Amino acid sequence: MAQDHVYKVLFFVQSAAFIVLIINYSQTSYDIQKPIKLSVAPTDVTNACNCNVTQREQEDEAARLCTPVRNDKPGSLSNCTLADIMKRPGVMLLTSTNLGFLDITLNMLESIKRIGVCVNITIFSEDQKCYRYLSERAEGDPAVHVVLTNSGESTSKEILRTERHSYYALFNKRQAYLLAMLEQGLEVLFSDADTFWFRDPFPYFQGDFDISLIDSISPYPLRTPRGDFCAGFVYYKPTDATLQLVKAWIQTMQENDKKGKLLADQSVLNGLLKADKPVHINIKPLDTNIFPYGPKFYSLLAKKANYPTVVMHAASIRGRAAKIAKFKSSNMWLVNSTIEEIASQL
Ligand SMILES: *[C@@H]1O[C@H](CO)[C@@H](O)[C@H](O)[C@H]1NC(C)=O
Ligand SMILES: *[C@@H]1O[C@H](CO)[C@@H](O)[C@H](O)[C@H]1NC(C)=O
Ligand SMILES: *[C@@H]1O[C@H](CO)[C@@H](O)[C@H](O)[C@H]1NC(C)=O
Ligand SMILES: *[C@@H]1O[C@H](CO)[C@@H](O)[C@H](O)[C@H]1NC(C)=O
Repeated sequence: MAQDHVYKVLFFVQSAAFIVLIINYSQTSYDIQKPIKLSVAPTDVTNACNCNVTQREQEDEAARLCTPVRNDKPGSLSNCTLADIMKRPGVMLLTSTNLGFLDITLNMLESIKRIGVCVNITIFSEDQKCYRYLSERAEGDPAVHVVLTNSGESTSKEILRTERHSYYALFNKRQAYLLAMLEQGLEVLFSDADTFWFRDPFPYFQGDFDISLIDSISPYPLRTPRGDFCAGFVYYKPTDATLQLVKAWIQTMQENDKKGKLLADQSVLNGLLKADKPVHINIKPLDTNIFPYGPKFYSLLAKKANYPTVVMHAASIRGRAAKIAKFKSSNMWLVNSTIEEIASQL
């Protein structure tokens, strides 16, 4: 008898747990979809969903008016919906730009859009004009978040390599953006704006490592003392070692600054990686045949080498005009308006 009773109680507990699970599940999925309502046309949706109608009518209304808005509105810069972005949780694509590099940045975004890669993108804008333009273009785009720099705005003009102080200063700010994201536990793909994406790179960032990047000197996949890692396209996992590395990277650059020593962020990174400072970093090298830097990409192209490029980085092609000319020469310039046209509208 007592045993019978126990079974009944157990059965009740199990049923109750199941019901709680269902309630929880339906609430969870509602919660997940909620931000879309907020980010896309908030007024329409609020009005549509707050109508004072019977529950049945309300549900029909919600299904008619809210569902398409919730799930199906792709952003114009990314062509991605929030649902697309959420398929890649915990990952951020981080880039930074200023007005002088805006068209190059738009070219990268267009290449990403064309291959249908969806990921949460954060773009740090280094000046007001660039911020205004990009945030307008990104309005209602669930994939693209534009942030005005929090560490001092720069000029809107192209900063030339010859202006060494400003040039390095622009690049030496980016590690702070990166660290803030890693500290939130995000995996971060940092990409310079002068990249062109042919295929989805994310499948290459699986496995056990701290950071993944190309070495333009060592023969892939070896890690040699002569190596020269490129800081312009790097996948960072938020491991303890990565966090220590990025903190040391920032600290070293701050110390250099105080000493009046001008070193590019990439040189500092290579120094730390070679010396295993502050810890040894587990690097997953990327194959330069499929992740080529500028000159390598164009030499492979000239040889008609049949490597399926994933992402090319126009590094070592110096200056905006030269990069654009190169992109155009290989049909990789996807931007219609010139930077002058863009700037004149601002
Ligand atoms: C909704 O409608 C009912 C009856 O039609 C009314 O009693 C109620 O006050 C209304 N509620 C709101 C929030 O307008
Ligand atoms: C946007 O995405 C949809 C669905 O994934 C696709 O059919 C369409 O061709 C894409 N449009 C552009 C301009 O890439
Ligand atoms: C995308 O990143 C931004 C920060 O730039 C964050 O506020 C937002 O919640 C993220 N979206 C998703 C779907 O993770
Ligand atoms: C540039 O113009 C062409 C033809 O009008 C159009 O198909 C393409 O989407 C445009 N590219 C961008 C990035 O707006």
